Amino acid sequence: MRRTTPSRSWEQLGQAAYVDRYVLADATHYRPDGPRPHVVVLEMMQRALVKEPQVAATRNLVRWMRPGGLLVPQSIAVDAAVDAVIDAGRHVARLIDLNVESAREPLEPVRVTLPGGVHVVELRTEIVVSDGIGLGRGDSGLTLPLVLPRPAGGPVEFSYRMGKRPGFEMSVWSSE
Ligand SMILES: C[S@@+](CC[C@H](N)C(=O)[O-])C[C@H]1O[C@@H](n2cnc3c(N)ncnc32)[C@H](O)[C@@H]1O
Repeated sequence: MRRTTPSRSWEQLGQAAYVDRYVLADATHYRPDGPRPHVVVLEMMQRALVKEPQVAATRNLVRWMRPGGLLVPQSIAVDAAVDAVIDAGRHVARLIDLNVESAREPLEPVRVTLPGGVHVVELRTEIVVSDGIGLGRGDSGLTLPLVLPRPAGGPVEFSYRMGKRPGFEMSVWSSE
């Protein structure tokens, strides 16, 4: 099969005249050496922000955007819910809302006391691409629920891991 390069794709779309240049780089560390971008568009994600570096790349690239610049997707939220098998489920916590402001702040762990009898937690992803255009639960592979087994013990802590294997970890939280 013939490989499609970015330049070929843009030519086929008849949009090559709008491209200043192509850069092959690691988006989690790339620093633009020209003018700061007005718009950053990124899609390197899977459901619940696992496996691909959407969070790390967004956190890197928003630093170089112009003030008031546009990030696409506008926001990616991941929520924890329980009892999802029975009905629509109960929302228990927002774990992340990745947007142009939050991407400049530290990633904090989220602690939750889950209801008794809960054995699994569903991570739900909601994407707002831009005002009025979005993907909710089950609309696409990127917004399919991810089910995590609850660890035995008391309150739990969700923390987002970046690096080679991105994703949420759920562990038992102890204040000691
Ligand atoms: C889920 S694919 C989506 C690609 C594109 N948005 C599309 O729909 O065809 C994610 C892409 O991100 C690229 N990618 C993964 N990690 C990257 C990184 N650190 N820097 C730049 N690109 C990366 C992968 O090579 C892959 O092409």
